[in-house]
Amino acid sequence: MQELLNKLVKKNVVLTKDGRVADYIPELDKAKKDALGVCILDNEGNRYTAGDCEIKFTVQSISKLVTLMLAILDNGEEFVFSKVGMEPSGDPFNSIRKLETSSKKKPYNPMINAGAIAVAAMIKGKDAREKFQRVLDFFKKITEDETLDVNYKIYCGESETGNKNRAMGYFLKNDGIIEGNVEDALEVYFKQCSIEVTAYTLAKLGLFLANNGCTSTGEQILTPRISTIIKTLMITCGTYDMSGEVAVRVGIPCKSGVGGGIVAVSPGKLGIGVYGPSLDAKGNSIGGIHLLEDLSRELKLSIF
Ligand code: DON
Repeated sequence: MQELLNKLVKKNVVLTKDGRVADYIPELDKAKKDALGVCILDNEGNRYTAGDCEIKFTVQSISKLVTLMLAILDNGEEFVFSKVGMEPSGDPFNSIRKLETSSKKKPYNPMINAGAIAVAAMIKGKDAREKFQRVLDFFKKITEDETLDVNYKIYCGESETGNKNRAMGYFLKNDGIIEGNVEDALEVYFKQCSIEVTAYTLAKLGLFLANNGCTSTGEQILTPRISTIIKTLMITCGTYDMSGEVAVRVGIPCKSGVGGGIVAVSPGKLGIGVYGPSLDAKGNSIGGIHLLEDLSRELKLSIF
């Protein structure tokens, strides 16, 4: 395994020159464009790493998985999916257009920004501070990583530049999808995106899902049904308007973020975390997707 990972990082790192680092916040623009790393964890306690695995980066959209799990635990599946759909949108992650044109008014799915903001609004707590603290504590619990925290420079950047997200939040409030305070939902959303992780954290998250929501200490946190929902939405919507292609090329549940991270899940077997901040046109790590494609082929991981 170790040899394979070294080989795949070396092979795919050259692709990083063809992508672009996210630059909508100056702080994100500082990422090392040619970084590429992978971390794999299995149920025998093995940890394999190659490339740039020590670099911290913000989790961004991968946090949408975490808030979705907590929102379902807080409110139940029926309520959550009365406010947000389960269908791929076929649009970029930050698109606003279907909010007006979709017949039910609800965002297509929880993996696009509109859906994730609606989900953030469902987290229980008396104010934004308490709601976010619950998200962070839940993230720490499922990754068994007490060190997780927000990068406040990135958070300020998200909040200052997030006007389209803000517009979507108010749109959702207008249509009754958000019932509580919109600014609270946005604060939770911007903060959850700004949590710093490494490829290892993502591999822990991946292994948690690979084991149907059970931690390495045997604590069953998700029901099998919630775990199925999360993994299915990763396959159908986790890499935005590239999800179909990623399902064919990689064939396992994946979720990407514009910080350059991808979490991938080999059900029952492996948790995989990838970091590569150079992104393709759809906002997915360019080296990361290719690396996962190679890995899936070599280890025969595709579930299809
Ligand atoms: O809402 C945004 O624009 C970002 N904070 C998160 C987006 C993200 O990671 C989408 N990803 N691929």
